[in-house]
Parts: sequence; C-alpha cells; structure tokens
Amino acid sequence: MTDLDAFITGLPKAELHLHIEGSLEPEMMFALARRNGVTIPYASVDEVRAAYAFGNLQDFLDIYYAGADVLRTRQDFHDLAAAYFDRAAADGVVHAEIMFDPQTHTDRGIPFAEVIEGLLSACAEAEEKHGLTSLLILSFLRHLSEAAAFATLAQAEPWLNRIAAVGLDSSEMGHPPEKFARVFAAAAAKGLRLVAHAGEEGPPAYVYEALDLLKVDRIDHGNRALEDEVLVARLAREGMTLTVCPLSNLKLCVIDAIEDHPIDQMLALGLKATVNSDDPAYFGGYVADNYRAVATARGLDRDALATLARNSFTGSFLPAEAVAAHLAKLDDWLAAQ
Ligand code: HPA
Ligand code: ZN
Repeated sequence: MTDLDAFITGLPKAELHLHIEGSLEPEMMFALARRNGVTIPYASVDEVRAAYAFGNLQDFLDIYYAGADVLRTRQDFHDLAAAYFDRAAADGVVHAEIMFDPQTHTDRGIPFAEVIEGLLSACAEAEEKHGLTSLLILSFLRHLSEAAAFATLAQAEPWLNRIAAVGLDSSEMGHPPEKFARVFAAAAAKGLRLVAHAGEEGPPAYVYEALDLLKVDRIDHGNRALEDEVLVARLAREGMTLTVCPLSNLKLCVIDAIEDHPIDQMLALGLKATVNSDDPAYFGGYVADNYRAVATARGLDRDALATLARNSFTGSFLPAEAVAAHLAKLDDWLAAQ
C-alpha cells in the first residue's frame, strides 16, 4: 500500500450517497439466485461484469433493476447490507447514509417490511461489529408516478422513526423534481430530511427545482450545476452539500475521463463537495477507490482529501454533537499522520 492509499483508507469519513441495491456484487447475485431459485440471464460472474458497460444512466438502470430481482427475503437484504458495511468499514467509513428503493421490491410483491427489517438488522450489526453508524434514506423512483411515491410513503409509516430522509433517484431526464414537490412536502411534514438526485444528467434547471420546489437538504451529484455561475454561487453561499460520485460519473459517461473530473474545481468554487460510491458493485469501486481515483487523476493533496472527509460529516444528517465528535476524531487522526 502506498502512503496515499494508507492515508485515504485511514481517513475517517462518512458515505452519503450509496444505493444499497447498487452494492450487489455479481458473486452475491449468483448466490442469491441459487438460494431463491431465481434464473438470471448470465452464465458466470465474468459475464455479469462484462455486461457492466454503460452509455448512460438508463443503460445502467436497466441492468441494476434486473439484478435486484434476486433480492427476495429479509435475509437477502440483511446479507446485502452486511456485505456493504464490511467493505465500507475496511475503507475507513465510520458513518453511512444509505438509500434504498422500496418500489423496486414492492412492485415485485416483496413486502416493505421484509426490505426494511433486513436492512435495519444489518445496520444494528454494523454498529456492534465495526462501530459504524448508519441512517436510511427511502428513495422514490422518479420514473414512477407521484401517486406511487405517496403510496410508498404511506407504507413506510410504521418505520418513520427509523428513516432519516427521503430521496429521489432513477431516470432523471423527463422526470423533473417538480413532479414530486407535494410528496416531498408531505415527507418534510413528517419530520424527514430531503435529498434528491439532480444535475447528474439533468440540466441546471433541475437543480433549481430540487432547491426551490423540493427544498432539499442535499443534492445528489449536482455536476451540471457547474454550467450555471449563478447557481454555483448560490450553492456555495447556502453551504449546500453535493454528494459527488466520481467513478459513477465515469461509468455513466457524465465525464469522458477521470482526468476531467471537476471535484477540485468544485472545491475551488467553494462548493461543499463530498466523495461517494453511488453503486459500487456496478461502477468499479467503493468509497476509498473513489477518493483514490480523483486524488490520482486530479492531484488532490492531503488537505483537499481532508476537506472532502470533513464535508462528509458536516453534510450528514447526524445530530450536531455527533458531527462535532467525528470532526474532533478526524482532526486527531490528521494530527497523528
Ligand atoms: N442516478 C439515478 N438513479 C440511481 C443511480 C444514479 O446514479 N443509482 C441508482 N439509482
Ligand atoms: Zn445515486
């Protein structure tokens, strides 16, 4: 391990943008297919990996939703999340805010309870095993209707004290944030925090809508905000956290090459950027791989990497005392390097 590798792995950090269904590794896909008697359209793990060449977000989503079909039982969701937490802990993640897509499962007849109870038991286990804390973000699929999102929020009612936030993911183009303004307002009225994917493929106008109509606390991705100076100035002034995902950006062709990633430009513009893995099983790396990719390609120094880690705590939904405790530990760790 190089000094930079060791620094990145050891750096205490939070992960704020992770779809748990996107942490389904091909090996687990095969194991769950076997366990549940589900047929998958691949002959081998290598064939699955070979299929992971995407021209855009929709190419990826088609394969990602198909892969999620092997997830059937509470135990499957537990095993999926437990495997993620083991990987995250090994990458220096001490807190994770994980998105799950209930509609991907309830639309296949899997009860909401099976999904969330499996995830929650893995969250509890990760805290005991690794000291890794976590929060859940219920994400609505934006290609589905507003009524379907309201129905999902209603299904979540018994678990609202175990869900930190709602989010918005899936196909961005043609599904502007505005479509979900009312369901986001309903979620806020129930005390939930709000995040939304915006500006991954969609235009700056979608980022404005996420801010003004959804009233989000964080923007997931936000890359295309850079096309609008006024928007950049506003995001910086408001201290809005952007959950940026470099390897995802590369795999989904949001950027042409990792050397073109704007992470350092974002920091230089005063944007509160963080680094995250999005769908690590599909995009070729977990959170430390993402830090490493931009550190190498963009020449980020230790101060920049520490800023990204600091932003991950201040951008989290942890209570202020917990954030302060994480920042103090981060400073102690930095002082010891
Ligand atoms: N964008 C939108 N929806 C998603 C993504 C993403 O990167 N990953 C999983 N669902
Ligand atoms: Zn995402």
